[in-house]
Amino acid sequence: MKLNEMMDRPVVMEKIVHFLRDNLPSLSDRLTQLEHSANERRVPIIPRETAAYLDQLLTIKQPQKILEVGTAIGYSASLMAQYAPVWTIERNPVMWDEAEKTFETNQTTYPIHLLKGDAMDWLNKEELKEFGPFDVIFLDSAKAKYIEFLPLALNLLAVNGVILIDDVFQGGTIFDPIETIPRRVRNIHRKLNRLFQDVLNHPDLKVSVLPLGDGLMVITKKI
Ligand SMILES: C[S@@+](CC[C@H](N)C(=O)[O-])C[C@H]1O[C@@H](n2cnc3c(N)ncnc32)[C@H](O)[C@@H]1O
Repeated sequence: MKLNEMMDRPVVMEKIVHFLRDNLPSLSDRLTQLEHSANERRVPIIPRETAAYLDQLLTIKQPQKILEVGTAIGYSASLMAQYAPVWTIERNPVMWDEAEKTFETNQTTYPIHLLKGDAMDWLNKEELKEFGPFDVIFLDSAKAKYIEFLPLALNLLAVNGVILIDDVFQGGTIFDPIETIPRRVRNIHRKLNRLFQDVLNHPDLKVSVLPLGDGLMVITKKI
């Protein structure tokens, strides 16, 4: 899998990141196994501090249905399926094969529906609308696509639902001048900046951004 090295840089003090990753409790034996396996192989999954936040948010939110974009090996989907049925979209066959194995061997409280293919296709499908609306939508995939996914996700969101968008800080470089950004990640940089502008200036959205991992954007609709 292609790694985006910008995301590996801590966006808060390194000692704080280490403290959180060493001390926040892991969520279950199975999730810990999956976390170790992903970390050993450098498969990008949500870090411990984001997992702890997601787990707590879902406890409070008590969702009926959850949608995820970006399954990878099924770590965050397995976590979220402790709270509600999860529909999760993955376009990479190597990843979806592994996720299928994860879901076969992993007992979750609620079912996980793996949707194979590109998120842009799925988010436009009537079929997905019929599965929804979703109380929590977690976008954790190609960063340059978030700007296009957001309006589609808003259409699938339940009343009082929440959209979470992971890895929005590009290792803290997101607001640096474009000339200082390596050429190969300039498109991501531009598109994430547009995402910030769109959500911060959107009259109908409430936004907060948490410095967990490489930044987690939290979006709700104003009531
Ligand atoms: C960061 S990983 C997901 C990690 C997972 N959410 C977790 O924490 O366990 C991103 C995944 O998104 C998938 N992906 C990227 N762009 C996508 C797209 N447009 N449609 C579907 N999947 C996509 C990649 O193949 C990769 O497996």
